[in-house]
Amino acid sequence: MQVHRHEHHTSAPGPTSVATMSPAEAYDTAFESAQPDEGRTVVRVELEAREFDWEFVPGTRTRAWGFGGQVPGPTIEAQVGDVLEIRLTNHLPEPTVVHWHGLRIPAVMDGTERVQRPVDPGESYIYRFRVPDAGTFWYHSHFNETVQLERGLYGALIVRAPDEPVFDAERTFVLDDVELEKDGQIRPPGGWIESHDGREGTTRLVNGRQEPEIRMAAGQVERWRIVNAASARYVRLSVGGRPFRIIGTGGGLIPSPVTVTEVLLPAAGRTEIAVGPFAEGETLRIETLPFNRGSFKAHKKAELFATLRVGAAAPSRTQLPDRLREIEPLVTGPVPSNRTVRLGFGLGLKHGVEFNINHEQHHHADPVRVGELQVWEVVNRSPVHHPFHLHGFFFQVLEVNGKAPDHLSWEDTVNVPPFGSVRIAWMADDRPGGWMYHCHILEHHAAGMMAHFEVIR
Ligand code: C2O
Ligand code: CU
Repeated sequence: MQVHRHEHHTSAPGPTSVATMSPAEAYDTAFESAQPDEGRTVVRVELEAREFDWEFVPGTRTRAWGFGGQVPGPTIEAQVGDVLEIRLTNHLPEPTVVHWHGLRIPAVMDGTERVQRPVDPGESYIYRFRVPDAGTFWYHSHFNETVQLERGLYGALIVRAPDEPVFDAERTFVLDDVELEKDGQIRPPGGWIESHDGREGTTRLVNGRQEPEIRMAAGQVERWRIVNAASARYVRLSVGGRPFRIIGTGGGLIPSPVTVTEVLLPAAGRTEIAVGPFAEGETLRIETLPFNRGSFKAHKKAELFATLRVGAAAPSRTQLPDRLREIEPLVTGPVPSNRTVRLGFGLGLKHGVEFNINHEQHHHADPVRVGELQVWEVVNRSPVHHPFHLHGFFFQVLEVNGKAPDHLSWEDTVNVPPFGSVRIAWMADDRPGGWMYHCHILEHHAAGMMAHFEVIR
């Protein structure tokens, strides 16, 4: 296949990213201004998207689409202040584009059809940006998502800080599910129920494998970074019903560890947990507890993701401090909202199931000014849960159904319960351009539950 290497830019049509610049100029400016901090480096990554056979289920060959011939794609790792320079080469039979979910990078590097022309088969495209925050992020296709993510076009992206707590081990678990047909191939999207509920596959995956076995030493405490890459599934995560400590969310560490026995991960959500210590010989189910999303297909039983087997004891050097990070609240006391985002749903005569924001599919929302406090009320006008995702910026959750969360955190995705509402606060730093927010149930996003907006100076 002939590869056209667009070394720098592509001529992206559509909205201008920075008011006075052409898209090509905005790209060049972002590319050149992405410089590593002193003492940090440029991390170069080759990301080749292509089709290959993958054994989601041992012994069954499934035609998958992925990065670097694997599902998930390679875990991209960097330190805060590094520059990531990622060359995407598309060997798929259709266009693609890669979004860096949770990264606070320039608009033109966000990897959506809003800011760049999708990368055609045979083409390459280079993303280059400095990574400003430590945390557990992920990257995924932002094109024909219900097909491309389901087939495997996603991976984890980990950014570390120099002063992170010390653990005996660290692991990344990317959770997903796929729906396989009898012949072992992924069922194409379709059907009224699926376009309403979103796809929940019956084959549950951890790092691209069905229900794997995980081994851990007794007496140790590990850091697990967990990404929910599923199209629609919410994971109500349990580790054998034992207590574990949440140490981080989508936007990095939280102020102090929180001890729980379960954590809810909406689609696209991430959590970081401290797990253990366990005793030798224990076997624990890493599973999702029953959770009713309001979908037609309810989950009445717990479902296994992986089995944890605890082996011989090993010494522990884990040191988990009581204070992990300082987070300044963006808002104290009562503040009025300056935007209402209505997540709506209807049955259209023309298109069947319709999802919208403020009564408009693929809504065009008002701009947001750099440095102005945003307090948004995200209202769910439907009987199903929706994971609300804001591109490119972190927010703080002020209230869920009128109740303040029990700890501060930075987030890029939050669950909005049925007929409920979530208030969030955020402030755009100086990264003007075209951005979006949307429901991260891929079928809802595709059916119009999304909005475009500009960040302006
Ligand atoms: Cu994780 Cu618009 O996406
Ligand atoms: Cu939704």
